[in-house]
Amino acid sequence: MTEQPQIFKGLAGVVVDATAVSKVNPETNSLLYRGYPVQELAASKSFEEVAWLLWHGELPTAAELAGFQKSERAQRALDANVKRVIDELPLTAHPMDVVRTAVSVIGASDPNTDDSSPEGNLAKSITLFAKLPAIVSYDQRRRRGEGVIEPREDLDYSANFLWMSFGEIPDDVVVDAFRVSLILYAEHSFNASTFTARVITSTLSDLYSAVTGAIGALKGPLHGGANEAVLHIFNEIGFGPDAPARSEAWLEQALAEKRKIMGFGHRVYKKGDSRVPTMRKSMVELIEYYNRPDVLDLYEGLEAAMTERKGILPNLDYPSGPAYHLMGFDTLTFTPIFVAARITGWTAHIMEQLQANALIRPLSAYNGVDERHL
Ligand code: SDX
Repeated sequence: MTEQPQIFKGLAGVVVDATAVSKVNPETNSLLYRGYPVQELAASKSFEEVAWLLWHGELPTAAELAGFQKSERAQRALDANVKRVIDELPLTAHPMDVVRTAVSVIGASDPNTDDSSPEGNLAKSITLFAKLPAIVSYDQRRRRGEGVIEPREDLDYSANFLWMSFGEIPDDVVVDAFRVSLILYAEHSFNASTFTARVITSTLSDLYSAVTGAIGALKGPLHGGANEAVLHIFNEIGFGPDAPARSEAWLEQALAEKRKIMGFGHRVYKKGDSRVPTMRKSMVELIEYYNRPDVLDLYEGLEAAMTERKGILPNLDYPSGPAYHLMGFDTLTFTPIFVAARITGWTAHIMEQLQANALIRPLSAYNGVDERHL
């Protein structure tokens, strides 16, 4: 038997390339977008400014931001063919499948699909950035039997997303919590969905194909689907009095069944996810605004039980799920919101991959039957 080479299952701990888009540092529990701590960006910048930063490497000047906002706001509405395809899908279709399909339709309808020049890919990135809120809100409203709400050009990205979803502009505390969540979700180096986008891009396929693949990767509950799964867990435990005790009982049962507890743990961060304190602060502001102390009881009850029992800390999906629930989004809409945020990081990595491309094709060891003959 030939000696088996060392295998790095899940590419855990393997550095496969360099990126200048962001730096995730588990030692300092920090996250930098193009050198800026994400907490500073979340405290003072719009999501549009952060998108520009990820794509261009610098924050926009006032003129650049004005030009970007004008171009983005002019593209927010969904084209009739995209609406028609979404309407053909069953109401029971998972919203991540709807988003994935809508992106494919936009790509297939783009006469410049195969223009992978920096200018061409930036234009596609802005188009998807502009249209994803319309896709996400259109699907949520059709599932609810509510009519479509067209975008407004007088609102910034975050307020317009909420306007199209609910037909009203919530108070600043809600818009701000939503903006913070989008910035925190925007980018995170070589996570599974971003790496998927880079693998597809490395074959010189088009940006829409890479984003479609990334959406498929993000849907999984071990990755972006975890924020939806957190609310399923909260609903299993139940809101209301004695949440800490019920959380402990639920956790014992779940661990006995060998279940992964969604919203906890991380492949890179082992001392806690650097983004959690910022998102938790926004979640608590929403809890106070909506007067829902029961949500905090449940949040803290399960967190304490998980820390006590497994010593595993929350990741960003843990506070963002309850925050989106309080904002009024359907649970199934949570991960599509993650798509609308992460489109910025994905497309920044797609453009970076093309700057110094190499086909991504790892090796495999063989553990099948020995050679044999007919
Ligand atoms: C995101 O990569 C990114 O950057 C992703 C992300 C981004 O911004 O792109 O940060 C977004 O995807 C966050 C993660 C969301 N996923 C979840 O919340 C799903 C639940 N989490 C786990 O599945 C797990 O923590 C992972 C997948 C996130 C990370 O797993 P690892 O690093 O591969 O660790 P592991 O699965 O090998 O676990 C090590 C041990 C195991 O115990 P043993 O089998 O060795 O006894 O810890 C246990 C695991 O069972 N463990 C958990 C757990 N996480 C780890 N046990 C129960 N529940 C958990 N959540």
